[in-house]
Amino acid sequence: MVSIGLIGAGFMGSTHLAAYEQLQKDGKFKVAAIADLDKGQAEKFAASLGAKIYGSGDELLKTADINTVDICLPTFLHYEYAVKAIEKGYNVFVEKPLCLTAKQADDLAALAGKKGVIAMVGQCIRFWDEYVWLKNLIDKKAYGSIVSAHFSRRSPAPTWGWDGWLTDPERSGGAALDLHVHDSDFILYLFGKPDTVKSVVNKSGEKYSYIFTICDYKNFIVTSEGTWNLPVSYPFEMYYRFVFEKATVEFSSQTGVKIFEGDKTIVPEIEKACVVQNDNLGGNISSLGGYYNELQYFVTCLSENKKADRANLRNGADAVHFVEREKESIL
Ligand SMILES: NC(=O)c1ccc[n+]([C@@H]2O[C@H](COP(=O)([O-])OP(=O)(O)OC[C@H]3O[C@@H](n4cnc5c(N)ncnc54)[C@H](O)[C@@H]3O)[C@@H](O)[C@H]2O)c1
Repeated sequence: MVSIGLIGAGFMGSTHLAAYEQLQKDGKFKVAAIADLDKGQAEKFAASLGAKIYGSGDELLKTADINTVDICLPTFLHYEYAVKAIEKGYNVFVEKPLCLTAKQADDLAALAGKKGVIAMVGQCIRFWDEYVWLKNLIDKKAYGSIVSAHFSRRSPAPTWGWDGWLTDPERSGGAALDLHVHDSDFILYLFGKPDTVKSVVNKSGEKYSYIFTICDYKNFIVTSEGTWNLPVSYPFEMYYRFVFEKATVEFSSQTGVKIFEGDKTIVPEIEKACVVQNDNLGGNISSLGGYYNELQYFVTCLSENKKADRANLRNGADAVHFVEREKESIL
């Protein structure tokens, strides 16, 4: 039986636990243990999942009856705890960004390979319904070749983080790594590494709280923007706009997907496995959809003993490398 221990029940840990609550009816796994320094956080989902509560990640790793660890700790702790879990032979899910540095991410991916564990990174946009739909459209060349593409991810400052870790670029990597990595990863997933990368960042204040990148591919340009410079009243938004030869496709998490084809505007039906909203988890996004999809994939891989290659640790490491390349390219 797949037996999961989750470490770090803050915003993202709670989001995972809410998704596990939805998924547990499939009976493929159980969440046996939840650890957080703040036991009150761990308690929120423990009863409904039948999980034991632990006061730290180390205590959980030492004593819990588990074979899989879901790491939702602040980014600067991912490497340390993922190494400990993999060394014990546990399968792991590590939230994005995989690690704070590309060197740590490379080492972690290599260790998971050497130990032969099932390991996945939480690059959830690969599982987000509107982005899965977009990839399918591109793969099928439904509207011809790509002319240009733009991604954007905009958020108020993430002030909810434990011990102020998120607003400390030394521990989070700033918006460039924490937020923008979603689009950097998705660009790599769609198109591979670009020939040329050029970025601009803030000229005043925390420089990585705003980043804009131009990726030059052979036949088209992809631009992407990530920022958490915005006031608390600014609604979180993720966005893409793809100009194809025969139509333009646009998505905003505020308004949904639209296809502009000649003089027609079409609102496509996009299939969703989970439409649950969770407004009380404390972060900047309340849809469970992409998290539900990625964790459903993870527990299926675990129960069928298959590698999680839709988002493996090598993919996670490549995304961290890409963000480092963006940072090095700053004009
Ligand atoms: N995939 C996504 O869309 C997404 C969204 C938000 C955050 N994240 C990622 O998830 C991770 C966590 O972010 P968050 O927003 O949930 O942070 P958070 O600060 O809300 O939660 C972190 C939790 O870890 C706990 N903690 C710290 N040290 C611990 C230890 N040694 N043992 C046990 N618990 C410990 C804290 O008490 C806190 O509850 C980060 O890597 C972040 O980048 C991903």
